[in-house]
Amino acid sequence: MRLEAQNLTKAYHAHEVVNIEKVTFGAKGLEGLIGPNGAGKSTLMGLLTRRIAPTSGTISLDTGAGVKQLNPLKSYEVARVGLIKTNQRIQGFDSLTIRDSLRLAATPPKDEGLTSIFAGHRDTDEIEEKVARLVEAFPFTDRNGYAMSGGEKKLLDILRCLITEPKLLLMDEPTAGLPDDITRSVMNMVREKVLAGDMRVVVVEHDLPLIWEYCDYVHFLSEGSILFEGEPDEVKSNRVVAEKYMGV
Ligand SMILES: Nc1ncnc2c1ncn2[C@@H]1O[C@H](COP(=O)(O)OP(=O)(O)OP(=O)(O)O)[C@@H](O)[C@H]1O
Ligand SMILES: [Mg+2]
Repeated sequence: MRLEAQNLTKAYHAHEVVNIEKVTFGAKGLEGLIGPNGAGKSTLMGLLTRRIAPTSGTISLDTGAGVKQLNPLKSYEVARVGLIKTNQRIQGFDSLTIRDSLRLAATPPKDEGLTSIFAGHRDTDEIEEKVARLVEAFPFTDRNGYAMSGGEKKLLDILRCLITEPKLLLMDEPTAGLPDDITRSVMNMVREKVLAGDMRVVVVEHDLPLIWEYCDYVHFLSEGSILFEGEPDEVKSNRVVAEKYMGV
């Protein structure tokens, strides 16, 4: 799985917030994307998943079964080829219960139509099992009700992405708003799936100890451009990263 962007730029009015010659994600297992506030991390993830239209540049995904150009695709089509993003800011979840949000996410598009209601659901048991497994793995206040707090909504957003079994998952600040122990459980679950070869992951985080602990490879973004990439130890000791981000 290789997600590649080339000559990718995004400008708002005259202000260029992303300008990347070339970057590849998904080749290394669990990758980190770090950089100062406003560096363009969320914008880059939005561009990669086609939620934000680029000013210029190409995005392609090599799934192993051929290379797909993502530029012409809508974001839901990108999701169908297995590239999914969790959100930095959470909206929604007030009209569906925790279990229904997960059921909806887990249901393949072919089963959403009216005819499928009468056709009988052969996949239902499998979906119910996946939903139950995820709901029971985390301490929601009301497992049969709604996500209560901002933290529970954030967690549900992540679980909703995981249950679709993406090939490449982009996580935008998964720890923000989540208690430490829940963050660990989520990251451990993610790491297991990566180690099992089920998916690749890119995590955007300001929590650097978490990045050093979990990531196999780290990209450093500053003012819209990738300034350095490498293994955690290399990035940690890089002078440019230290100057621009860690305030050394
Ligand atoms: N819709 C928009 N219109 C105008 N400017 C925007 C828009 N979205 C983002 N920006 C600007 O683009 C720059 C990059 O923002 P972005 O949210 O991608 O940064 P980030 O690296 O995710 O920051 P943080 O770590 O704070 O989440 C910022 O200067 C931001 O103000
Ligand atoms: Mg952001």
